[in-house]
Amino acid sequence: MHNIPFVDLKAGFKPVKDEVLRALESVFDEMSLNNGPNLRSLEQEFANYCNTGFAVAVASGTEALHFALLACGVKPGDEVITTPNTFFATVEAIVHSGARPVFVDIDLNTYTMDPNLLASRISSKTKVIIPVHMYGQTAGMSHIKETAGESGIHVIEDACQAHGALYNEKKAGSMAKAGCFSFYFTKNLGAYGEGGIVTTSNEEIANKIMLYRNHGHTSKFEHHVSGFNGRMDELQAAILRIKLKRLEDYNNSRRELADNYNALLKNTPLILPSESKGRRHVYHLYVVRHRMRDSLMEHLNKNGIGTGIHYKIPAHLQEAVKHLGYKKGDYPVTETAASEILSLPMYPELTTSDQEYIAEKIKEFFN
Ligand SMILES: Cc1ncc(COP(=O)(O)O)c(C=O)c1O
Repeated sequence: MHNIPFVDLKAGFKPVKDEVLRALESVFDEMSLNNGPNLRSLEQEFANYCNTGFAVAVASGTEALHFALLACGVKPGDEVITTPNTFFATVEAIVHSGARPVFVDIDLNTYTMDPNLLASRISSKTKVIIPVHMYGQTAGMSHIKETAGESGIHVIEDACQAHGALYNEKKAGSMAKAGCFSFYFTKNLGAYGEGGIVTTSNEEIANKIMLYRNHGHTSKFEHHVSGFNGRMDELQAAILRIKLKRLEDYNNSRRELADNYNALLKNTPLILPSESKGRRHVYHLYVVRHRMRDSLMEHLNKNGIGTGIHYKIPAHLQEAVKHLGYKKGDYPVTETAASEILSLPMYPELTTSDQEYIAEKIKEFFN
């Protein structure tokens, strides 16, 4: 019986094990645990990687989004626009800033915000737009930024699934007021714990994020704003620096695996992911679509193949935001996607023979 997990963290650890253990030992020897040397180097290295002036490490992707919204001045009574096809954290960050989440449906080719629908959702209360770079592919940033710019609205990229993705040669996280990344351990760049980072070329925004992540401290005994304990820990920073050096290799492997899936599955009834012109998809997830998704998933799972759904219940239909009054049918494209999408195993160490077995089982299902 095959056993192909959805994500194989153990396989990813093996090649970096010695380096990671040495780095952790040196963190323990140093005991410089708050704003330590690895954290400061990671910030510099990640800013260089994204071509932004600054990067501020925080405790998670959710905090990255939350602090970026606060740094843009979002407050109760404001509206923040995003898509309902996202991990719920995007919406939580908006809610915790005090603003009302307003949704724009997605386009079914990229699963990201449909820029053609954006203008109609903008009101006098709209403060920020958060396009989400879903599954490793950026949203249509030119059109979104143009629409936002006409109304003087800030754009914050949710790049939590898109480390290294490109849009017209520009890195995800470098195209707006701020970019927010998660280092959750399954991400293309993942810690062995929690972590996140905000990228920006705006010094004022960077300074504000530094305040919010650390209790608003301006000096040891002074608190300039009521902030949070939202710091990244030095151990995770040390691990992330090791993996950041390999991020391009990881992403290239993911892209090769995606090409291989595309070739193996092209004659099946599945709708395969598409890479839009001018964009570099980094395949955090390889998402296919079919109306018999649930029974296909069951067939694959029965044959030892791990799968996922990202995500099964759209954000506007979550119990947590019931009070906002959204209902089924409000965002039909997202709702259709949610009932048909399936994520196949995807991680740099996946083998082509694993993929051949997965394709064989998919074909078996449709026959
Ligand atoms: C699109 C998106 N936004 C936000 C987050 C939140 O990141 P974290 O889990 O690091 O808080 C995630 C991570 O799962 C995500 O995928």
